[in-house]
Amino acid sequence: AINIYVEQENGERVELEAPLDMNLSVMEVLKANEFPIQAVCGGMAICATCHVEVLQSGASGELPEMNDDEAYMLETLPHATDASRLSCQLRVNPDLDGLVVRIMPEA
Ligand code: FES
Repeated sequence: AINIYVEQENGERVELEAPLDMNLSVMEVLKANEFPIQAVCGGMAICATCHVEVLQSGASGELPEMNDDEAYMLETLPHATDASRLSCQLRVNPDLDGLVVRIMPEA
């Protein structure tokens, strides 16, 4: 498993454990840990209710490339920043170990 951190409004980081053998997305890990992520579309990159901001990338220092669907979706979001991602499009893998995210308002 790897660890993913969620930064709270007060700046505290909650550590989550994400198994590597279940092909989960970060969105699914957040939901499983009862964070208020709606994920209305179920991970299809068409609802943006899984929007997170990446405060720190994981072990590899890089995130997977965005596909066109994700990039298009993020362009439409008022709160999106250069560090925005759809958490349903981030697959849990060793490169993400230590990832720090903040859950965004649309979520
Ligand atoms: Fe809908 Fe990620 S769950 S865009």
